[in-house]
Amino acid sequence: MASENQRLLGISGSQRQASYNTMALRLAAEQVPPHSKLDVVDWRSIPPFDADYLARSGYPRTVAELRAGIEAADGIVIATPEYNFSIPGMLKNLLDWVSRGADQPLARKPVAILSASPGPLGGARVQYDLGKVLLFMDARVLAKPEVFIGNAAAKFDAEGRCIDVDTIRFVGLQMTAFSTWIDQVRRM
Ligand code: FNR
Repeated sequence: MASENQRLLGISGSQRQASYNTMALRLAAEQVPPHSKLDVVDWRSIPPFDADYLARSGYPRTVAELRAGIEAADGIVIATPEYNFSIPGMLKNLLDWVSRGADQPLARKPVAILSASPGPLGGARVQYDLGKVLLFMDARVLAKPEVFIGNAAAKFDAEGRCIDVDTIRFVGLQMTAFSTWIDQVRRM
């Protein structure tokens, strides 16, 4: 039986105003099952990783808030662009901050990954690099269905709404599978 009130945290790998990945995340928020709610986090003020600062002063406030948000969430949805065939530096920076400490909040946390790109492959390659990082962080990444939104410029309108029925359907299928995955991980 599906659990009540799943709280999901959405992280876009792009802080660009007209980001296709943030649009994809908003689409995911519309497609989650009725008992789930997905909130997109704004992480633009997270500073570059600084081990000396961490040793001296602990996590910066924005990092501490993000870590607490991840800890409190039942699942994390990451929608990210592919930069040079891999993870955008600022998203990797965020994960590096999150990764430090025995209370690392992505450990055993269900995670779903989407990617969108104006190119034809929809950022397929970044998903495998991101999966590798999350594997080390002991996250429980949903394997299927994979969602790669290629030719993204043709799939969202000027207001950022998805206008492609297949994309809406695939994201909906993924969010339904993710909700089930969250329940399965909880029982593991
Ligand atoms: C890109 N882009 C890109 N696209 C892709 O499919 N594969 C890639 O390897 C890259 N590499 C890359 C590097 C850098 C530094 C930038 C800025 C861009 C294009 C990228 O997919 C496009 O700019 C997207 O629109 C970025 O995602 P958002 O911001 O729309 O979410």
